[in-house]
Order: sequence, then C-alpha cells, then structure tokens
Amino acid sequence: MIRKAKIGDIKRIQELINYFAGQDLMLPRSLNILYENLRDFFIYEDKNKIVGCSALHISWDDLAEIKSLAVAKNYQNKGIGRKLAEACILEAKEIGAGRVFVLTYAPDFFKKLGFRQTAHNKLPHKIWAECINCPKFPDCRETALIKKI
Ligand SMILES: CC(C)(COP(=O)(O)OP(=O)(O)OC[C@H]1O[C@@H](n2cnc3c(N)ncnc32)[C@H](O)[C@@H]1OP(=O)(O)O)[C@@H](O)C(=O)NCCC(=O)NCCS
Repeated sequence: MIRKAKIGDIKRIQELINYFAGQDLMLPRSLNILYENLRDFFIYEDKNKIVGCSALHISWDDLAEIKSLAVAKNYQNKGIGRKLAEACILEAKEIGAGRVFVLTYAPDFFKKLGFRQTAHNKLPHKIWAECINCPKFPDCRETALIKKI
C-alpha cells in the first residue's frame, strides 16, 4: 500500500536510501534533509513494513523532480518501484506541474515509464545548487530524463 510519509517513517526511509547509496546506486540523504523534505515523500508498506520510498520535489516553473526512489532488495521486480514513481507523477499532475524530471543511474527503468533522455543543461539552473554540494560533483554519471504529464 502506498501512502504519504509520516515523521515516524524517516529513519527507515534513510536506511533504504543509504543502503543503495552505499552501493553507489543513488545519492545519500541526511536526516536533516529528510526531515525538511518529509512532505515530498511517499512510502510503500507491506504488512506494516516500509519496503520502498519515493519523493516528488517541486523544482521551478512547471517542473517537478522525482527523487530518492528505492525499493528494498527482496521486494524488487514486483511493480512497487513503478507504483511509487506513478504516485509522484499523479501528485505532480494534481498540483499543476507540466513536466517531471529525474536524475538517475537507472535510466531504463524511467524510460519504461515514458521518460525520455534530456541534456543536463536543459534543466533549470536552480538544480545545480544541490549538485555543487554533492560529493560526486563535477563528475556526475547520472542521466537526466524528463516526461511531459
Ligand atoms: C530501480 C528500482 C526503484 C526499481 O524498482 P522495482 O520495484 O524493482 O521496479 P518494478 O518492479 O516496478 O519494475 C517496473 C519495470 O521496470 C523494470 N526495471 C526494474 N528495475 C530496472 C532497472 N534498474 N533498469 C531497467 N529496468 C528496470 C522492470 O523489469 C519492470 O519492467 P516491465 O514493466 O517490463 O516488467 C529498484 O530496483 C531500486 O530501488 N534500485 C536501487 C535504487 C535505484 O537504483 N534507484 C533508482 C532511482 S535513483
């Protein structure tokens, strides 16, 4: 079941994200960033256990970003990642965004959801403020993809 995240979910969300960050599959998130952005997050629960998360962050103009999409290893390939991404896309539509983008190491997953690759420099300058603080900057291997909604 998908629902919006609550404060009590934060530590588990961090555990999920930082597990994959440790494998260089996504970027780590501090507790501070997670608390400040809690209202961006969806979680997927199976028998009261949080097994996946995603976030929709409003970026600029008509653009919103999907961030921090992760599904626990034993729960992958069951459609949970797709549902979490679709929840973000639906919320983006509801709040009036016209486009959703993602920076990811898993571009093929997002292509299956109708995203198409775009150049990093087509995205608003604002996103680079976050990039500058990233430990990987400036050697970013993430692919940028975008979808009109
Ligand atoms: C990427 C991730 C979120 C996918 O979640 P999932 O629950 O396993 O994905 P789903 O079961 O919903 O898969 C939906 C479709 O995408 C495909 N897919 C899943 N992971 C994929 C990947 N890494 N690359 C390409 N395609 C992928 C599935 O085969 C499925 O295809 P189908 O519709 O043709 O059957 C998950 O593997 C994960 O958490 N990976 C580690 C963190 C990560 O890479 N996050 C990416 C965002 S930064």
